[in-house]
Amino acid sequence: MFIRFYFNTLRFLRRSFLTSIRILRTVENSIWIRERNLTIDSELLQNRRVVASTEYDMSSEPGEDYYARQYLRAVDRLSLDTSATLKIVDFGCGQGRLTVPIAQKFRNSEVTGVDLSEEAIRSARENSTVAGLGNISFLQSAISDYLNTLEDSSFDLALFTEVAFFLPGWEEVISQVFHKLVPGGVAIASFRSTYFTLMLQLRAKNFSSAFEILQSSQGRVTPHDDLIFTWVNSIDLVDFCTQQGMDVLELFGIGTSSGIRGDLFDSFAQPGNLREEQLSILEAIEEKYASLLPDLGRYIAIVVKKPQILE
Ligand SMILES: C[S@@+](CC[C@H](N)C(=O)[O-])C[C@H]1O[C@@H](n2cnc3c(N)ncnc32)[C@H](O)[C@@H]1O
Repeated sequence: MFIRFYFNTLRFLRRSFLTSIRILRTVENSIWIRERNLTIDSELLQNRRVVASTEYDMSSEPGEDYYARQYLRAVDRLSLDTSATLKIVDFGCGQGRLTVPIAQKFRNSEVTGVDLSEEAIRSARENSTVAGLGNISFLQSAISDYLNTLEDSSFDLALFTEVAFFLPGWEEVISQVFHKLVPGGVAIASFRSTYFTLMLQLRAKNFSSAFEILQSSQGRVTPHDDLIFTWVNSIDLVDFCTQQGMDVLELFGIGTSSGIRGDLFDSFAQPGNLREEQLSILEAIEEKYASLLPDLGRYIAIVVKKPQILE
């Protein structure tokens, strides 16, 4: 008798505990979803969060050099004359993870890195000094402000890698980048993939949020964080670039089979933890699936060329 009473009480307490947890989760989720729907007005707030994110140093974090090489190989595939005097701009250059090796490759070119973050620009300058480069300069500025200072046909090669995901309204900004490229100039840009963004929510069992991501292309994706992210799929990206009058040369995923800690595929392989021979095998796998399944990547990279003006 006493034992039955004891177990019934335990069962009752367990059920009450689970029910209250479920109610708390629902309330928390709906508050978060309501917060996410607040108007996206505050460019200032976004910029402050973006600058704070540059505490993460992309030029020294283990594994980031591995992904940098994937972009640099795309530059190699363009077979540009490395002794030419080009104007190259790295928009949202961060700590110069790509700016520095590009300036090393194109010694006669004038390379400019632009970034919102004072701290990132300071590190980028340090990195270029260590590399002994005299053909590189860095500027702390919002990309759109910098673009407004430029004439048409101001640069031959533009990098816009892993920036648009922090930039609500990136379409307008990138269309300005295309506009100010020289005819025949090339831009390499990368964008957070919708698939990656969605799957992170599914992994966190956040189905309502995943559904919202499916229906939109920008919003808050981390609970209690004001940072607004943007995401695209490859078909829409190609459509956008084509509508902008650009020729698409290449499309590939970055991180289709591996990840930095916290990424979708981090349990498969984290480049920062691998030995040299493991890295080269991963690189071969990644290279194959980068072009087969670009949407699987953390980022979708696109290489576009501005057509020459016909006489
Ligand atoms: C993830 S990092 C990528 C850095 C670099 N492009 C690379 O691939 O190594 C994104 C960078 O974009 C910069 N950024 C984001 N929005 C920007 C804006 N509106 N104007 C200038 N820089 C911006 C951030 O400050 C940050 O350094």
